Amino acid sequence: MAVRETVEFDLERIDHLIEEEEAKLEPKHRASIAYKKEVGRTVAGGVASSWQDSPPHTVFVDRGRGSRVWDIDGNEYVDFHLGYGAMVAGHAHPKIVEAIRRQAARGTHFAQPTRDLDVVGENLVERFRVPLWRFCNSGTEATLEAVRLMRAVTGRDLVLKIEGSYHGHHDSLMFSVVPDPSRIGPRDHPVTLPQVAGIPQTFASLVRVVPFNDLDEARRALDENDGNVAGMIVEPAMMNCGVIMPEPGYLQGLKDLLHRRGAFLAFDEVKTGATIAYGGAVEAFGVEPDIVTLAKAIGGGAPCGAIGATEELFAPVVSGEMDMAGTFNGNPLTLAASKAALTEVLTKDSYEHLNEIHRALRQGCEAAIERHGLPAYVSGLGAKGSVIYSATPVREYRDTIGIDERITYLAWLFQQNRGVFKSPWSKQETWTTSVQHSIEDAERYVANFDELAAAIGA
Ligand SMILES: Cc1ncc(COP(=O)(O)O)c(C=O)c1O
Repeated sequence: MAVRETVEFDLERIDHLIEEEEAKLEPKHRASIAYKKEVGRTVAGGVASSWQDSPPHTVFVDRGRGSRVWDIDGNEYVDFHLGYGAMVAGHAHPKIVEAIRRQAARGTHFAQPTRDLDVVGENLVERFRVPLWRFCNSGTEATLEAVRLMRAVTGRDLVLKIEGSYHGHHDSLMFSVVPDPSRIGPRDHPVTLPQVAGIPQTFASLVRVVPFNDLDEARRALDENDGNVAGMIVEPAMMNCGVIMPEPGYLQGLKDLLHRRGAFLAFDEVKTGATIAYGGAVEAFGVEPDIVTLAKAIGGGAPCGAIGATEELFAPVVSGEMDMAGTFNGNPLTLAASKAALTEVLTKDSYEHLNEIHRALRQGCEAAIERHGLPAYVSGLGAKGSVIYSATPVREYRDTIGIDERITYLAWLFQQNRGVFKSPWSKQETWTTSVQHSIEDAERYVANFDELAAAIGA
């Protein structure tokens, strides 16, 4: 294999560029900065969700259309944030707007089942190849139900999760999401660390953390807890550490290991579902799990969540032994948006378009990486991708620890200052594209990235 010449990142230079970019950005967001202070009088921290409060300051959005969003200062951006990947249909898609308008005029909520259930259910069965579905209102609810189902059917309490994966904001799984490197413990026995204050330490004993892409470590965890493991939840491609792809055979290997011990495999497809392929990770990697959890893209922009599972797993729910319930589950507005998104917008051929945009982003960023000798590479599939600032392949969370967060922060600032909206900055940069994005939109992203690469590269 050819060895590529790369530079070491010059962190002093990066610090200097960060200062310059922050100074450029601030005057563009005067209205957002002022408004946040106003909102903060009645809304804790001036934001609705903690992640909306990220450096250098929160940006308040006014509206979106197609691939674009406008902030309240009037700046226009190509949107690669897309509501944390929920808007793969693009903003204000006419078919989804019409479906919501039609349903709103007929009533927005009954807490009784309505007629769109069958179409949405059939579509999800076709895409994700699990036979039965229930609906909820977020990815958090979907993964919470997944864990509960695995525990209910096996009568066992312990679940396995991947170090560095996020599955929502609940006490069953919010462990070791972005764990503090000084406290993570040895790789063969990672410490299960509550991610935020308020999660009872006791619950940590119900979760065993393992590294991604390592069947031997999954086997070790299962052997050491023989007869106690209800199942494992895994993002089939990790999406909250940049994009980390599963190595060939890993997902099938997990399924085999778990099934041999009477335990279940759940794919958390909240980010991969209907984004990396029509049938998400199930289609992309050809492995059929026992449970699939969904949210984000399947709602066409409405608050949504869904859990799909085998008949065996859903038996206690169908028999009434175990409630899986919620006032807004199967809300008609969400179902109307979902039906339009799944059957009219995110159609099979729309994924060809997403793949074309992906190719443009990948090739453009790879060329810039090569040209400027960056120790970095591109990872992703379909609507999802990221530049990973590492000279060697990142296979799991621990491989990301050495990546200096100033680099991804600067990358975020460069895009934001040049008309590209990215998800609120976190250490890992990920993009999402929509069916309404164009090659020109991808070119804008690439041009900005090229400018960054020139500034920090050779
Ligand atoms: C993989 C994964 N699972 C679950 C969730 C939680 O979804 P929600 O924010 O809809 O509760 C997220 C959110 O980003 C996610 O990335």
